[in-house]
Amino acid sequence: MTSKEIILTGDRPTGKLHIGHYVGSLRNRVLLQNQGKYDLFVFLADQQALTDHAKEPQKIIESVGEVALDYLAAGLDPSKSTIFIQSQIPELAELSMYFMNLVSLARLERNPTVKTEISQKGFGESIPAGFLVYPVSQAADITAFKANLVPVGNDQKPMIEQTREIVRSFNNAYNTDVLVEPEGIYPDNEAAGRLPGLDGNAKMSKSLNNGIYLSDDIDTLQKKVMSMYTDPNHIRVEDPGQVEGNMVFHYLDVFGNADDAQKIADMKEQYSAGGLGDVKTKRYLLEVLDRELGPIRERRLEYAKDMGQVYQMLKDGSEKAQAVAANTLDEVKDAMGLNYFK
Ligand code: TRP
Repeated sequence: MTSKEIILTGDRPTGKLHIGHYVGSLRNRVLLQNQGKYDLFVFLADQQALTDHAKEPQKIIESVGEVALDYLAAGLDPSKSTIFIQSQIPELAELSMYFMNLVSLARLERNPTVKTEISQKGFGESIPAGFLVYPVSQAADITAFKANLVPVGNDQKPMIEQTREIVRSFNNAYNTDVLVEPEGIYPDNEAAGRLPGLDGNAKMSKSLNNGIYLSDDIDTLQKKVMSMYTDPNHIRVEDPGQVEGNMVFHYLDVFGNADDAQKIADMKEQYSAGGLGDVKTKRYLLEVLDRELGPIRERRLEYAKDMGQVYQMLKDGSEKAQAVAANTLDEVKDAMGLNYFK
């Protein structure tokens, strides 16, 4: 029997996706999907998003529809991949219950990503219990689908590690092999791993207002590119300019394809020597970006005309996902002996 490898990954729906998300993960998911070698599950982790937005669910709920549009626009295809919403699969919460007994409070408090988030979010003395245990729920997300491979950012390494521990602990405690130990797939270079903001800030984020969104129209894209951070000392066209740290060249390196490489190299040389103005480099970047983002933008507008259809797609995906998760939960309960009525 040749069964396909199973890939699972998800996003917290806390806003529309920007081009950092796109080059960091979404574009790669679409490639993996289209290779036809994998069973791909992609989901909106709305329950995880609620662990630190409990009293403002509206933003999360709205983002579910927006991120689903971003997925479809980028090329995730519901006829090839299973796209679903976490909260619609109650089996995941049930699985988390059993896993929580296998994880100590001290272990939860040691998770470095959770630690960083706790200090950033300023919970003070009132860390939501649900927040502290979200890595356990993430282990349930992954194992319910018996995922072998989980493509995520580097900040998610501790989650994969914790999942692997839970799998070993479960299989060992109940003398079974129902749960599969996943491997993480991480970005292979820093440039793809995290795209800096338009202003040169290391992070592209909504709160810094320094991002380009997959949903931006062409005028917005143009304005944003024209406002990008270049070299503050490159005043006149004749002045020699800095390529290093110049966001226009950074983005050209990330978004340019093999055919652009020569032109980009020539431009860098001319820019460093003096004689190439920022407006020209920006016009070229706009062209390169729009080549990739234009078709995504068009598809997004098309899908957005019929949100009913988008939610139907999510419903169908959630039903498919639920059947898989229910099957795993059944095996889990069998392994534990919780099968009183069988
Ligand atoms: N924690 C992930 C993030 O913040 C989202 C996520 C939730 C996830 N469950 C997952 C990713 C399972 C991969 C697998 O991006």
